[in-house]
Amino acid sequence: MLERLDCASPAPPFRLAANPKRANLTRDRRVAHSHNPTPVTASAGRPLRGMLRVPGDKSISHRAMIFGLLAVGETRISGLLEGEDVMATAAAARALGAQVHHDGPGLWRVFGVGVGGLRQPDGVLDFGNAGTGSRLMMGVCGAHPITTTFDGDASLRKRPMRRILDPLERMGAVIVSQEDGGRVPLTLRGPREAVPIEYRTPVASAQIKSAVLLAGLAAPGETTVIETEATRDHTEKMLAHFGAQVRVSTEGAHGRRIVLTGQPELRATPIVVPADPSSAAFPIVAALIAPGSDILIEGVMTNPLRSGLLTTLREMGADISVESEASEGGEAVATLRVRAGGLAGVTVPPERAPSMIDEYPVLAVAAAFASGTTRMRGLQELRVKESDRLAAVADGLRAAGVTCAIEGDDLVVEGGGGAVAGGGMVATHLDHRIAMSFLVMGLATRKPMRIDDGAMIATSFPSFLALMNGLGADIA
Ligand code: S3P
Repeated sequence: MLERLDCASPAPPFRLAANPKRANLTRDRRVAHSHNPTPVTASAGRPLRGMLRVPGDKSISHRAMIFGLLAVGETRISGLLEGEDVMATAAAARALGAQVHHDGPGLWRVFGVGVGGLRQPDGVLDFGNAGTGSRLMMGVCGAHPITTTFDGDASLRKRPMRRILDPLERMGAVIVSQEDGGRVPLTLRGPREAVPIEYRTPVASAQIKSAVLLAGLAAPGETTVIETEATRDHTEKMLAHFGAQVRVSTEGAHGRRIVLTGQPELRATPIVVPADPSSAAFPIVAALIAPGSDILIEGVMTNPLRSGLLTTLREMGADISVESEASEGGEAVATLRVRAGGLAGVTVPPERAPSMIDEYPVLAVAAAFASGTTRMRGLQELRVKESDRLAAVADGLRAAGVTCAIEGDDLVVEGGGGAVAGGGMVATHLDHRIAMSFLVMGLATRKPMRIDDGAMIATSFPSFLALMNGLGADIA
């Protein structure tokens, strides 16, 4: 019934430009982080139809490389996301002593050095645009007796790293140099032996939690992380999967306490990476707002700590049904059927934010097409993502003729009841999710939407254009 589209697994890492179809959406890696901005336009037209599978989950892919580095023996990974962010983590794993082999689309093998076995890298660890890769690797490196320098692109250079450096200093790391109160480029020197700590994360952040737990691997005794709001649990799951002793219990109404016993020998173990719900969010919202659409999305991870967007869209009246369910790599996955239809504005509670933190830009697009007002509460963390997403989303919505306001940490969007003018040019600020969100919007606005630069899409979803256009979208 529905035509099946292939995942369009990207070309080998760092050679994406070899594919002429995608060449104009690939950053030039010969000169670190300089690229020619690539404007992209999305126009409304046909309904979206067909079946697709989005690439592997970015969070799990970063962690797969990192656990591969820290395990002894060969870790086989399938379904790895081959976006630029994860490739930066793979390059860092190599620089720290791992052997990393690419065997075919999504298939990788990592020969690790074991906890305590990291090599002193020769040069700077350049993470490009990748907040997750850089912060998790700071946790790893900051607890080993090596000196490492971290850097990245203009977006990463603006992002706060004190949130990682503070607990690492308590564990014995020395911050040799840092920019502007804790920004990259920065240099870390790890202690001879890290000190285990009990750490309460100051903001709901899986990156902070994960950095402390990864550092705790190198410390003797128990490292404890307490979070008031539960965040994505991929690190805890992977620690257990690789044979570490980790205990997780509830803390208060919404939180968790994670206790890790340090200095384990991690066993190399195969990893299957399920499809990324944060990437699936784009075709999901596109199919909801483009009239007449009806699509199937295969094997989307439905981990409850990642599925706040689905909860919210269903509250808005979205027609999203589960066609089948399975388990992949220890995670629940589902094939989702999404059909276009009217949406109604809702209030999204702040405690839901950690389970959909990366999905607010595209939820704001859905809200623009809903009838009535959508209020998204407690979005302070959006200010420190790849861009200030609160400002970037509000500016983009206004460029499309949508009425919206930032009230404290809330975003309030007045829906157009299915009709949105569009016609604007959106500034993407080196932010892949801003780029994809406003291209999705253009599939249903009266006038096309234009973004100033689509190059960053390659950081997380290199096949975005091919997959969306394969469903019938007009993005060029
Ligand atoms: C991530 C955690 C989130 C998310 C990011 C990926 C992770 O960041 O925004 O894209 O893989 O741990 P915070 O933990 O800082 O909220």
